[in-house]
Amino acid sequence: MKDFRAAYGRYAVVTGASSGIGEQFARHLSAAGVDVVLVARRKGRLEALAAELSRADGTDNIVFELDLLAEGAVAELARGVSDLDVGMVVANAGISAPGPLVDNSLATELDVLTLDGAVPLQMAHHFGREFTRRGRGAIILVASSLEASAAPFTANYAAVKAYVSSLGQALNYELKGHGVDVLVVSPGMTESEITQRSAGLDFQKLGGPLMPASQVAQTALSNLGKRARVIPGITNNAADLLIKHVLPRSLSVSMFGWLMRRALVDSAPREA
Ligand SMILES: NC(=O)c1ccc[n+]([C@@H]2O[C@H](COP(=O)([O-])OP(=O)(O)OC[C@H]3O[C@@H](n4cnc5c(N)ncnc54)[C@H](OP(=O)(O)O)[C@@H]3O)[C@@H](O)[C@H]2O)c1
Repeated sequence: MKDFRAAYGRYAVVTGASSGIGEQFARHLSAAGVDVVLVARRKGRLEALAAELSRADGTDNIVFELDLLAEGAVAELARGVSDLDVGMVVANAGISAPGPLVDNSLATELDVLTLDGAVPLQMAHHFGREFTRRGRGAIILVASSLEASAAPFTANYAAVKAYVSSLGQALNYELKGHGVDVLVVSPGMTESEITQRSAGLDFQKLGGPLMPASQVAQTALSNLGKRARVIPGITNNAADLLIKHVLPRSLSVSMFGWLMRRALVDSAPREA
């Protein structure tokens, strides 16, 4: 793997570092000698991880307890790390809210839009500017394989992930002449708290094994600077090709609708 510290700078900011894919980004970066700013709400989890990584890798990690849904959160993060040599950011924190859109509260759907969409935009805007000024840096945006199609019963989440993917790929083009690497990673179903908690979905019924979160982080980091977007796993790549280039859109939407409906839990049976 590339020497990220020499290429980009001493620190990497990872949002959603207290579990799942974000935790694995932190682990891989620390193992590569990068000091990590660990961002999430659960301070205890972040402190334990920071201490473990310092012991294992000799890195000097910083815990940044933050609710990214709070007003001005990204500005607070930007201020908090402004004195550090930050060379990389991983906009990973995310939530999903499976279910019929009209059954979910609007507040919940707006939280998905903010945390999964507006926060990565704000991070890419702030740090993209900083990195462009310095002439080096890296931005990783975590999208989802669901970006490939409109997806009923996770409609807003899939739409927001498609937005993030489009944003990141365009930004890759805009910033490549400025020494800044931008990568979108679009994981398929992955072991994490989202899938453990189910968050309203029975992932068993969606079919296919869950990928280890470590593989997602490693695939992203090893493709940083080489391409604009990466999908971890051969099966996920095949599915992406099929959905985007072979199936008519109406068929992929119906397929997602059928799959998601049967995987929804904690609700009354739905008529087909
Ligand atoms: N797992 C999958 O199958 C899958 C597939 C495709 C894409 N993804 C994407 O991968 C990313 C990581 O998710 P994951 O699967 O690793 O799930 P996860 O284990 O639930 O991790 C989500 C992370 O986001 C943080 N977070 C949630 N709300 C937050 C808030 N308001 N402020 C700050 N941090 C917050 C959580 O930390 P705290 O609770 O401590 O704040 C946690 O660290 C998400 O963007 C998700 O959409 C996941």
